[in-house]
Amino acid sequence: MKKILITGGAGYIGSHVAEILIKNKNKVIIVDNLSTGFKKLINKKAKFFKTDINNTKKIREIIINNKISTIIHLAAVLSVEESEKKPKKYYKINVTGTKSLLTATIKTSVKNIIFSSTCAVYKDGYSKVNENTKLKPTSVYGKTKLKGEKIVQSFCKKNSLNYGILRFFNVAGASPSGKIGQINKGDQLFKNLSLEVQKKNPVFKIYGTNHKTKDGTCIRDYIHVTDIADIHHKVLEKISKTNESNILNCGYAKGVSVNEAINEFKKHSNKRLKILKLPKRPGDMVKITANNNNLKKFIKWKPKYNRLKTIVESCIQWEKNN
Ligand SMILES: NC(=O)c1ccc[n+]([C@@H]2O[C@H](COP(=O)([O-])OP(=O)(O)OC[C@H]3O[C@@H](n4cnc5c(N)ncnc54)[C@H](O)[C@@H]3O)[C@@H](O)[C@H]2O)c1
Repeated sequence: MKKILITGGAGYIGSHVAEILIKNKNKVIIVDNLSTGFKKLINKKAKFFKTDINNTKKIREIIINNKISTIIHLAAVLSVEESEKKPKKYYKINVTGTKSLLTATIKTSVKNIIFSSTCAVYKDGYSKVNENTKLKPTSVYGKTKLKGEKIVQSFCKKNSLNYGILRFFNVAGASPSGKIGQINKGDQLFKNLSLEVQKKNPVFKIYGTNHKTKDGTCIRDYIHVTDIADIHHKVLEKISKTNESNILNCGYAKGVSVNEAINEFKKHSNKRLKILKLPKRPGDMVKITANNNNLKKFIKWKPKYNRLKTIVESCIQWEKNN
């Protein structure tokens, strides 16, 4: 039984990671300040501490008292739009917070770190980016996550820890258990569409319709949250057994445009959506999809929920139940 500390375990992705790790008989300890997380997303079998990742002393105490061997670091702030307006907040939580958390592990039982990064670290406009493609974040959010990656890498090398840096593409959907899903609104396309189609007369805003893409709207690689959670479990098993560290793109290698996503939501909700076309937002990338060969090779990965229909239906179902 591994003793795993999840930061941000009361959030959208963290709650799904906790669910899978607990199902696989691991002991899960959650640290979250509940700034965008929710008590009702915290797994009942997990131990919970309402703590900020910048509280090094308290986190160190939790690590020592619970004999933690792995940290899965998901706690962060992640709105591209907000990061452009409040860069200091983003540096304090995503950069300084990551440093503080790592400092708390010095001379403890921690052996493995899994860090949640993002496709926002890449230069805009590429299809099928691999882990060696040029890194040039467009947004403040992306910049802080890239700094986080570098901090994790150099800390782990210096202290002989294994690391897995996971560059998530766009995460969407809800657990098939029906118990957890995304509550926090953020600025995510699938969440906003799922909320909108519950209304009597849905109206949807598209930011940017004249991009150099197949239909003029932005393109992203959407990955189901349960596949993301499963990747955490498998990457942890692999790095802890082999002592190999790695940086891995987590996406399906499939681009979906905003228009295609809207059409899929219309189809599965039987709703007409009124569209408002607005200018592009600062910091937004135009097009990004993953090359996932490295992930497939590293953990023999086979995605389970990669049909667009499956993701959209699970989003709508979660919203209806909540
Ligand atoms: N959702 C996506 O599509 C996506 C894509 C790429 C990367 N990511 C990364 O995945 C991670 C989780 O994202 P999410 O979608 O679950 O977001 P979320 O907002 O639902 O979860 C983040 C959690 O961290 C907690 N938190 C924030 N600041 C904290 C602090 N200072 N101390 C303690 N807890 C704190 C929040 O309360 C929340 O529960 C983030 O690191 C994010 O950058 C997400």
